[in-house]
Amino acid sequence: MRIAVFNQKGGVGKTTTALNLAAAIVREGGTPLVLDLDPQCHLSGIHGNVPKDSGHSLFGFYQSSRGLDELAVPWEGIGRLVPSHQQLIKIDATFGKGPAILNRLRVGLDAVDAAVPGNAAQATLIDCCPYLGVLALNAVFACDVLLIPISTDYLSLQAAEQMTRTLSILEPVLKRRVERRYLLTRYDSRRRMSGDVQNRLRSSYGDEVCETVISENVAVAESPSRNRDVFSHNPTSRGAQDYAALYHELKQLRFL
Ligand SMILES: Nc1ncnc2c1ncn2[C@@H]1O[C@H](COP(=O)(O)OP(=O)(O)OP(=O)(O)O)[C@@H](O)[C@H]1O
Ligand SMILES: [Mg+2]
Repeated sequence: MRIAVFNQKGGVGKTTTALNLAAAIVREGGTPLVLDLDPQCHLSGIHGNVPKDSGHSLFGFYQSSRGLDELAVPWEGIGRLVPSHQQLIKIDATFGKGPAILNRLRVGLDAVDAAVPGNAAQATLIDCCPYLGVLALNAVFACDVLLIPISTDYLSLQAAEQMTRTLSILEPVLKRRVERRYLLTRYDSRRRMSGDVQNRLRSSYGDEVCETVISENVAVAESPSRNRDVFSHNPTSRGAQDYAALYHELKQLRFL
């Protein structure tokens, strides 16, 4: 299954979630393919290897039709990464928004899945940029489910409404409802605001809000600076427990 981690709001925990969910999958025996579809290259930076040559990144996939399998690099504890490059910022201007480009990533991922023996689709995670352009649209068109991190503050509730409006505009083009789950991140039980935001999100979106809540956690915040996921940084931390719980919830929902 393909999970795109997307919210048009910045800094809500998209990259953190892609990183730690990938690590949770590896700990359960999987080898996810992780795409860094953000020209900010945050995930590739945590890997410690943003390619110098843009052709070795997702830019090479869009610009020169290089295969995603060919571009993927191993990442111990995370699976395989198709890295980003700053040049990805040019994709909007270069390719516009025709139907062929919107489906480009889906077609590329279909080719990856087709090459797996027995055609068994592997878990794919897509870390998106915080704006709706060709790249994020590619992720929405390619994914089976959109995971929408909502950091626990009031502005994030507006961002959730914005995401819902965006998806309702896209659905007639896609000719299907976009399956989605909202994920509360940076939850701090000591703050009344966290409880308020959670209640309002659950009353607006019901079952589409993950039961799992990701707590504000030092190990989660620290681990990227050590080029690590939260499990290898501190396996007993609250953050590791939360991301393991998210894995099991998504597994039960058959998104993994
Ligand atoms: N559960 C958490 N506990 C503590 N810090 C967190 C948690 N989740 C995310 N952070 C921190 O919040 C900041 C933003 O997180 P992250 O980079 O994952 O957001 P993002 O949505 O990917 O941002 P962008 O929109 O810029 O891509 C980072 O410094 C990250 O370490
Ligand atoms: Mg990010």
